[in-house]
Amino acid sequence: MTTPRSCAAGIALVLLCVAAGRAVPEEAETVAGYSAEEALRLGTRMYREGLLPSGEPMRAMVSEDIEVDGSMFSCQSCHLRSGRGSLESTVITLPTCASWLYKPLVGREMRPESEARLPDRLNPPPFREAYTDRLVGRAIWVGKDPNDRELSWVMPRYKLSTRDMEILVYYLKHLSAEFSPGVDDTTLRFATVVAGEVNRTDRDAMVLTLQAIVRDRNSQTRHEERRAQHGPFNMEELYNPYRRYSLAVWELQGDPSTWDAQLEDHYNEAPVFALLGGITSGEWAPIHDFCERRQIPALLPITDFPKLSDTDWYTVYFSKSYFQEGETAARFLERFEAVVKDAPVVQVRRDRRAGRDAAAGFNAARSSRGLKAPTELVVEPDRPIDKEFWERLVASHPGAVLALWLEPADVGDLATLAAVEPRPPAVVLSLSLLEDQGDVLPAQVRPFAYLTYPYSLPEDVGRSRLAVESWLRAKGLPVTNFRIQTKTYFLGWMLAASVKRMRDDFYRDYFLDVMDMMRDEYYSIGAVYPRLSFGPGQRYASKGCYVVQLGDGDPPALVKRSDWVIH
Ligand code: HEC
Repeated sequence: MTTPRSCAAGIALVLLCVAAGRAVPEEAETVAGYSAEEALRLGTRMYREGLLPSGEPMRAMVSEDIEVDGSMFSCQSCHLRSGRGSLESTVITLPTCASWLYKPLVGREMRPESEARLPDRLNPPPFREAYTDRLVGRAIWVGKDPNDRELSWVMPRYKLSTRDMEILVYYLKHLSAEFSPGVDDTTLRFATVVAGEVNRTDRDAMVLTLQAIVRDRNSQTRHEERRAQHGPFNMEELYNPYRRYSLAVWELQGDPSTWDAQLEDHYNEAPVFALLGGITSGEWAPIHDFCERRQIPALLPITDFPKLSDTDWYTVYFSKSYFQEGETAARFLERFEAVVKDAPVVQVRRDRRAGRDAAAGFNAARSSRGLKAPTELVVEPDRPIDKEFWERLVASHPGAVLALWLEPADVGDLATLAAVEPRPPAVVLSLSLLEDQGDVLPAQVRPFAYLTYPYSLPEDVGRSRLAVESWLRAKGLPVTNFRIQTKTYFLGWMLAASVKRMRDDFYRDYFLDVMDMMRDEYYSIGAVYPRLSFGPGQRYASKGCYVVQLGDGDPPALVKRSDWVIH
């Protein structure tokens, strides 16, 4: 929804956040003939995608005589979105943002541990003059720093017109120029969002766990704070990053169409650096959109209905939820031997969000593999899904594989499918849509029913579960909703790791950049997901889903029928 108000706010924000407040350009300012906003937009595209204002790819030299397509060598791919660079691997990429370039580099500013790891050929001189706009341009054109040091050839030299260079330099001058909002000398401010009708147990499972994490952190930092204030001067770099956390709980009420305005009010009252967790019974989209517009990182909300996007940056989700289960089902069926080649495929669902998402994932995965679209039956709310329904379905689609995105109330008569001729070769359902209650599925259908299950299998949960439980016990929190508590516990661990790596570079984009540099994570999350993985721009951390069948026992055992990731 784009109201004139949010539009205006959007434009103001590009300036506020990219330009970070003070550097808001004068109204009349033009850059290479463009308005300041337009120049920032074009500069963003050059930096992130390697595309010139004309839309053509930038050209770059990666050695004296090898020219490459700059869209494969975007600045962001090395210097990261925040421009803070990376000292992670064997290649040290210096920062290229305003806060780094436009001041002299003195030896002390290299972090001691980074300095030690710099290979000799990249060891920066103890002193480098501040860049000016002209010198930044020269570095990008010919690879010389202000002291005439020749930059390594890892840094390409770009073939840009003077005009295009002006735009790129203007962008760099506003990139991570000042700390993001929500941080001051002592405190990193966070909020968590509780949106709509969330039951009290689930709300508390998230909020109380998060508050315990914050209390924990703050009791540990007291010592660090003292050192930060009274530490010896030359150790300043080491000690001053420590900030206490504060956590506000933003409760959103009423219709989701009013959430955006409520979020604005909370934010304007006290801006936060990032949102942590959060929970909603409905769609996360209004909060997602707010964060995207305000450029606020939102970490790992608890929601069954994430917003799916390949390009949005600010919200990191646990998974794609039902959509991912649908994708998994499609992949599983494709390789499933009992499926006769070219068997018709029929999806059945009600017109509800969860089933819709699963069906969308199923369709997307099939179409990306060049398979034909399945027949999709959307059953009216007042129409029962009973014996007669199934008989008719099989009569009109003989031999069809069925993907049934149904909830517990609709699966009671599935036994019919075991008796009809021809019996469907396979039936796929989602165990999470069945609210994890395998026992609602009639025994007769179980031999040919396959269920998507997006969590760790019970037999793999053991040790991780103990670790989380004992932490909860130590914090005086009873186990209420274990999945929510474990997810939140994991979030606390991610947060600690990311804040530590971010050190004193309090830029929101950098915060996400460092999170993107995390790898596969198993720690503490094993009780919910086998693993979570991160990577540049990846925003759905759980990449897999099992397919299981129901075995013996009460509740029925889950028998694994696929690997976690089906390629
Ligand atoms: C393939 C990786 C890579 C790409 C792509 C890349 N850079 Fe670099 N850049 C580097 C490395 C590595 C250095 C440090 C070189 C050195 O110190 O010798 C660097 C250094 C710089 C410096 C000098 C920093 C200083 O403190 O002196 C600037 C400015 C810069 N890059 C800007 C850019 C811009 C703008 C782009 C995109 C148009 C870009 N870089 C694309 C890797 C890259």
